[in-house]
Amino acid sequence: MRARSKTKTDKDGWSKEYTFNTGTFGDKWNFLVFGDPQLYSTKDLAKQTAGWNNTVTQATKRFPESSFLLSVGDQANHSALQEHGGFISPDPMRAHRTVVTMGNHDYYHAPSYEAMYNRPNVEDENYWFTYNNALVINMDTNDWEDFDDDAAFLRKVVKEQGTDKDWVTLTYHHSTFSQAYHQEDRGIQYWRERMTPVISELDVDLVLGGHDHIYTRSHLMNGYTPVDSGRVAQKGETLEKKKGETQYVTTNSASGSKYYQFFDFKTGVRDEDVKETFDQTVKEKTIRDYTAVWNQNEVPDYTNVEVTPEGLTVTTYDTGNGDVVDAFTLKRAKEEAPAEQPSQGSSDSAEDGSSKGAVIGIVIAIVAALAAAGGAAYMGLIPGVQLPQF
Ligand SMILES: [Fe+2]
Repeated sequence: MRARSKTKTDKDGWSKEYTFNTGTFGDKWNFLVFGDPQLYSTKDLAKQTAGWNNTVTQATKRFPESSFLLSVGDQANHSALQEHGGFISPDPMRAHRTVVTMGNHDYYHAPSYEAMYNRPNVEDENYWFTYNNALVINMDTNDWEDFDDDAAFLRKVVKEQGTDKDWVTLTYHHSTFSQAYHQEDRGIQYWRERMTPVISELDVDLVLGGHDHIYTRSHLMNGYTPVDSGRVAQKGETLEKKKGETQYVTTNSASGSKYYQFFDFKTGVRDEDVKETFDQTVKEKTIRDYTAVWNQNEVPDYTNVEVTPEGLTVTTYDTGNGDVVDAFTLKRAKEEAPAEQPSQGSSDSAEDGSSKGAVIGIVIAIVAALAAAGGAAYMGLIPGVQLPQF
């Protein structure tokens, strides 16, 4: 369904007409994703806004029926109103729904962000909505100290809203599995070690983030553990996720206002003049074990997510030549049939029963010991057992 609107302007009376699409109602649809436009009022706001305009225009020309445009945060560098004004100024922004995320730069002046954008079902800067066969959750990752509230929000929303949906997607600004220098930030490590196990526990399918200004596709992750680290990823491949496995994507800049280079965690030296290639980082083993693909083409990118009941196809394009930077389809692995239980014989004697009880007791004791060791290891109490290093 299409509708027309007229907007009255201060200077010229009626503006030109715009049309917008009220969306589709089936289980096959798409949305577009954009990373960190981060428009600067103190640098060249007009140039950066033009870059943003070019990206969002290219993306919506290629996918005119997109159900919404999702920005993964840092819409505006100082959260000044003229920066947010630049963000909403491209014509396609008047023709599509906009879904925004609270980035660290928007957080500099939250009232501007809060006044500018409609966010349904808000709870303490987190919010959610459903669209056809998907649950879409958006979280604020600026305040690490309210982790317990954030985890409770995520658990509640997924359980109450996600059980009858084909897909659960989650967006937060501070990417947890990315390849530029923000991977080392303390707050991001905190979220990575504590929230990603919750994300897997809830079987969230796809997590979209920004902040690191470098395209990164993770391996399928179970918590913070890569499921198939070292596997060579292919452009266009299909991934079958098991329950508890989550796919993470970090977006590059959608405006060109700022790019970050690959960060070598082994040296820990941040040098934006050193430009590595993906193959080099694989060969030199400086790539993170969670990373399947990274790309820094220093060209604004955008990502299309095609949703069907069977899969999520995630394709990232650059705006230089319109080339595909990366593409993959996420599907659900067929659940393995539960192993057949041996039938209970009728000849179990009391003696047999007590010996089974003893075996069960030993198993419980071993499990308890392992759990204690695991907990102690996590607390760093067992020499030689290391916490995961990121
Ligand atoms: Fe950011």
